[in-house]
Amino acid sequence: MIHIENASKTYTHHAEQVTALDRVTMNIEAGEFVSIVGPSGSGKSTLLLLMGGMLSPSEGTVSIDNTNIYDLSPNDRSRFRGQHIGFLFQRFHLIPYLTALENVTVPFLLQGDGGEAARERATELLTRVQLDQRLDHKPGEMSVGQQQRVALARMLANDPPVILADEPTGNLDPQTGGAIIGFLLELNKAGKTIVMVTHTPEAARMTSRMISLTNGAFVN
Ligand SMILES: Nc1ncnc2c1ncn2[C@@H]1O[C@H](COP(=O)(O)OP(=O)(O)OP(=O)(O)O)[C@@H](O)[C@H]1O
Ligand SMILES: [Mg+2]
Repeated sequence: MIHIENASKTYTHHAEQVTALDRVTMNIEAGEFVSIVGPSGSGKSTLLLLMGGMLSPSEGTVSIDNTNIYDLSPNDRSRFRGQHIGFLFQRFHLIPYLTALENVTVPFLLQGDGGEAARERATELLTRVQLDQRLDHKPGEMSVGQQQRVALARMLANDPPVILADEPTGNLDPQTGGAIIGFLLELNKAGKTIVMVTHTPEAARMTSRMISLTNGAFVN
């Protein structure tokens, strides 16, 4: 499903080179739930961005479903990303002045669904994450756990086969975080391939495989 071959990423910062990833090779099969752990600065977010078509590697290749994503033109890559990948972040990146319903409606509108159909499908998704009582609340009027559930619903709008999550429970208390992990486990059971960066050992233990990064390389 996701194949990374000898990928490195070097950032140039004030004429200094920072090697964030160092010749990483990995294979993630369809249906896996993989967690990535490691100290701060070890390259976890960089690896996830590389996998998601958001950051091109300095060396090496990344393929998803046998498509070498960095061989695609930027437009094709962005379309591919929309069809294949859902992102979940530690900070939810919701639009602050839109309600929960409007936030989840955005991807449907971008796909060209009409207003009413988009609202219906967004309502369904928010019901799935138990937020049907909060449709008209703006992000600032919800708890952080509810905001992450809105982000989860929005991410599911395109029904992506792959979910990439960067510390999705990093801002949440253990119980609220546990609920988000519960939703991810359910989605994985339903067939989604998930890669999750986490600092929470309990969360990592719930996944089917754990990968440790240190200084941009895997440790066994
Ligand atoms: N845009 C950038 N420019 C320069 N250096 C960067 C950039 N982004 C990340 N880095 C560096 O690359 C290394 C890996 O960063 P990355 O964000 O992937 O780490 P991480 O494992 O996700 O850390 P954390 O757990 O703190 O989120 C770090 O040393 C970081 O300082
Ligand atoms: Mg990070």
